[in-house]
Amino acid sequence: MIRDAANTSIMGRAVKNGLISVNTINIRDFSTNTRMMVDDYPYGGGAGMVMEAEPVFRAVNAAKEQCGGNTRVIYLTPQARVLDQLKVEELAREEELIILCGHYEGIDDRVLSEVVTDNISIGDYVLTGGELGALVLMDAVSRFVPGVLNNEESSRFESMKDDLLEYPHYTRPEVWHGMHVPEVLLSGDHVKIEEWRHEQSLERTRQRRPDLLAVSRTVRTVFFGSAEAADTAAQLNREVSLYGELLDYNRNKLKKSRRRFKKNELVLFVTDVPDVEGLEAVTANIRSDGGPAVPVYIGEGPADDSGKCESILSDRGFRTEKSMRIGGRDISEVSLEIRKGTRGK
Ligand code: ADE
Repeated sequence: MIRDAANTSIMGRAVKNGLISVNTINIRDFSTNTRMMVDDYPYGGGAGMVMEAEPVFRAVNAAKEQCGGNTRVIYLTPQARVLDQLKVEELAREEELIILCGHYEGIDDRVLSEVVTDNISIGDYVLTGGELGALVLMDAVSRFVPGVLNNEESSRFESMKDDLLEYPHYTRPEVWHGMHVPEVLLSGDHVKIEEWRHEQSLERTRQRRPDLLAVSRTVRTVFFGSAEAADTAAQLNREVSLYGELLDYNRNKLKKSRRRFKKNELVLFVTDVPDVEGLEAVTANIRSDGGPAVPVYIGEGPADDSGKCESILSDRGFRTEKSMRIGGRDISEVSLEIRKGTRGK
């Protein structure tokens, strides 16, 4: 099943182009008996069969030999947190993944506790085995491998990054079954179109997935300092959110005007001047209703402010997260850390 699916559609194209490779291992090949059986009756009785520990252990070890020794081992099971985009992006940063699929009633718990690093469910329902879950995971992760999606494909669906659903799409004809394409999409005004799409995303999420909206954060990236700070802030802002707003606090006008951030606004304070006075001055007229804030320093070396920046931000009403330092790190890695640390907070 895995092999067939991995050879079709976009994943198939990626395999063919050598962008990803998929190796399958049959646990049955690691049976410890001559009948090639890998399951047995459950201790304590009850219905169904249980996969034995030893064949699973050997199969996973064989996979580890093909990969590096400390490759993450993911077990697909309904008894886990449901997969989301944040987890997908975290796993997409790995070079290799080992995915373990169970059948029957499950796998002997002892081997799971020994080899599995991540338990993942694909939804709150029970499937006959983990294979479909594995394919879902492979598909979602492979979208993040450079080159797997072409430009047109890759620009879509990223609103999930903000825990929002996508806005509605339309194509020709302009009128279909008496229904018109929204006027704004024909206007050619890209700023207006972006605003409309953001509103539609919010509205759709409110109607269809209020649970997502509850964890969604509107990102505001406040920056001050050099041109490099501005540049890095812009990149980070884009990485953290599709709809983030950049605020240039080198501008006196902004510094002087009062601004109160709401609880669902995540504010990043990006600078290359990690001095406490700088932050004190920049935030003099800023307040928050208890939303999250992350100080982000661009330079290298330790942020030697002994928590002073955090305490300034908490005096302003923010719920301050641990400060971050980019220091030559990959921006997307920093962004992922920020999103993980502030989701739903
Ligand atoms: N195996 C059986 N059901 C599953 C689920 N919902 N998610 C992942 N793996 C499973």
